[in-house]
Amino acid sequence: MRLTCLVRRKIMVRDERGRGVQMKTQVGIIGGGPAGLLLSQILHVNGIDSVILERQTREYVLGRIRAGVLEQGLTDTLRRVDVGDRIDREGQVHGGVNLAFGGRMVRIDLEGLTGGKTVTVYGQTEVTRDLYEARDAMGGVIIDETEDVTPHDLTTDTPALSYRKDGEVHRIECDFVAACDGFHGVGRQSFPSGSLKTYEKVYPFGWLGILSRTKPANHELIYGNHERGFVLCSMREERLSRYYVQVAADEDVDAWSDERFWDELCRRLPEDVAAGIEQGPSIEKSLTPLRSFVAEPLNYGRLFLAGDAGHIVPPTGAKGLNLAVADVHYLSEGLISYYGSGDESGLRSYSKRALRRIWKAERFSWWMTMLMHKLADDDGFGGKVQRAELEYLTGSQAAMTALEENYVGLPY
Ligand code: APR
Ligand code: PHB
Repeated sequence: MRLTCLVRRKIMVRDERGRGVQMKTQVGIIGGGPAGLLLSQILHVNGIDSVILERQTREYVLGRIRAGVLEQGLTDTLRRVDVGDRIDREGQVHGGVNLAFGGRMVRIDLEGLTGGKTVTVYGQTEVTRDLYEARDAMGGVIIDETEDVTPHDLTTDTPALSYRKDGEVHRIECDFVAACDGFHGVGRQSFPSGSLKTYEKVYPFGWLGILSRTKPANHELIYGNHERGFVLCSMREERLSRYYVQVAADEDVDAWSDERFWDELCRRLPEDVAAGIEQGPSIEKSLTPLRSFVAEPLNYGRLFLAGDAGHIVPPTGAKGLNLAVADVHYLSEGLISYYGSGDESGLRSYSKRALRRIWKAERFSWWMTMLMHKLADDDGFGGKVQRAELEYLTGSQAAMTALEENYVGLPY
């Protein structure tokens, strides 16, 4: 006997042994990171069904330590779908950011020069946690530990996703597929050869980062340009600091004791800032590679790329998560119009519209990276130009305003 149960337009058909072999939904989402979770949440509150297929466990996803400098567009988007309460309680609103160079530190007044715009510091892991909780509370369907997720029939009106779980093959039929599966996901690989152009720049250095249960160096972030290399002082909570120093792209993390890290960090900061650094044991130490990457277009048939699946930015401008949310904003608008009135224009224009903003964030992230890092520079000319740009930038209201408009986030 075949038992069929209707779960809010998701048809679960079970075979004689009760195995789930067929499901229908409106949007099949690959990836349970911030982009996939937020897309599912926005679709849900607009009456559109989705299913998320995630290859890792929830614990693994929530174990990823990542930056969290959130643009106002991001926090507003989360609030609109009832995922903003904890950010409003625990997020740290920053009205400024600091640039350190030449032994001094200059505060850039974000709020003052952008008509009151700010950024919120709140770990990406916490954003992901909040989204998981919201999805669970609203009955969201998130299938973890899926293997071999494969998109099918993308150029038809009935695309599908197959996947393996517990040794069985399952199939989900949907109207659209959202590949929110990150840089190493399967979505972008599903584009037939010749249908995708990619642009990439791999930087010849990385960031060695630590977390420590210490008081942050400053109540706002400090980005430092130093002849020994870039340095960043950030934070997660009142007594949870996040620090980075520029190292070689293939640096051996194990070669860095805590003592060596703290010593190098302090050597790259202005003396008065270094004197205030509270040192302590690292609870996490890792190497972050720096890369710029964009894939064009962001859609193939009824599959759409969103978030890291379509682009990567170096973390210097703190744009990764913010760009993912902007993509989801545009894609969800297109899907809501389609299901609401049959208007396909938002879906047709998604790629072009998202890429216009993606490239502006790519430019800003590249510019911040080239301005703040020690670059290969035989005769020192490059270093002198960097210093001149920093002196000009911090002495020009117009130049600082341009930095701030990008740092707080360009409009959607
Ligand atoms: N099948 C199922 N899930 C997959 C697959 C696959 N083939 N490939 C990847 N995934 C999952 C990953 O396990 C991950 O949980 O997709 C998710 C992608 O999440 P992210 O990599 O966090 O990407 P995104 O949601 O776009 O968020 C972008 O994450 O990497 C940071 O700096 C980036 O802050 C930005 C944010
Ligand atoms: C971080 O806190 O990890 C962080 C902050 C700002 C960045 C990058 C990383 O630009």
